[in-house]
Amino acid sequence: MKRLIYSFFLGILMTSCESSSKTNANPLAEISNPKVLQLAIPGKILYETYCANCHQVNGEGLGKLIPPLSPSDFMSSDVGRTVYLIKNGISGEIVVNGQSYNEKMPAFDHLTDLEIAQITTYLFNIWGNQNGVITAKEVGGYLK
Ligand code: HEC
Repeated sequence: MKRLIYSFFLGILMTSCESSSKTNANPLAEISNPKVLQLAIPGKILYETYCANCHQVNGEGLGKLIPPLSPSDFMSSDVGRTVYLIKNGISGEIVVNGQSYNEKMPAFDHLTDLEIAQITTYLFNIWGNQNGVITAKEVGGYLK
C-alpha cells in the first residue's frame, strides 16, 4: 500500500514537471552561439525585470492593450527602431502582426547602451529570430 501511494505521488510530480517545462520552456535554449549567449543571458534578466510585466515573460502581450513580441513582425523588421523605442518609448497607432495597437509605452532612458544591447540581443535571437549579436556600439549608433 505504501508503495502504491508513493508511486501515485511520484506520478503526479512527474506529470506536473513535464507540463511546466513545456509551458515555461527557456527561450535561451534556442541559442547555441556563445557570443550571443554572453549578451542574451543578462538580457533575459533585464527583459524579465523591465518588460515582462507588460509584454509577459513568454512575449505574448496582453490582449488589445500590449502588443506581442513572440513573434512580432513590427519588431523583427527593424532593430534600429526597436532600440530607439526602448530608449524613448512609443505611442500612437502601430500595426503588429496585422493587429492595430494605440497605447503608450514608457521610455527606458535610464538603461545604458550595453543593457539595451543585452535586451535586444536576447529578443532578436529567440522566438524564431536569429539576428546574432547586437553590440553596445551598434545601439549607440542607432541612438545618435
Ligand atoms: C507599461 C507597459 C510596457 C512596458 C513595461 C514595456 N512596454 Fe513595450 N510596449 C507597450 C505598449 C503599450 C506598446 C504599444 C505602443 C503603441 O501602441 O504605440 C509597446 C510596444 C513595444 C514594441 C513594438 C511593438 C511590438 O510588439 O513589436 C516593442 C518591440 C516593445 N514594446 C518592447 C519592449 C521592451 C524591450 C520593453 C522593456 C525594456 C518594453 N517594451 C516595456 C507597453 C510596455
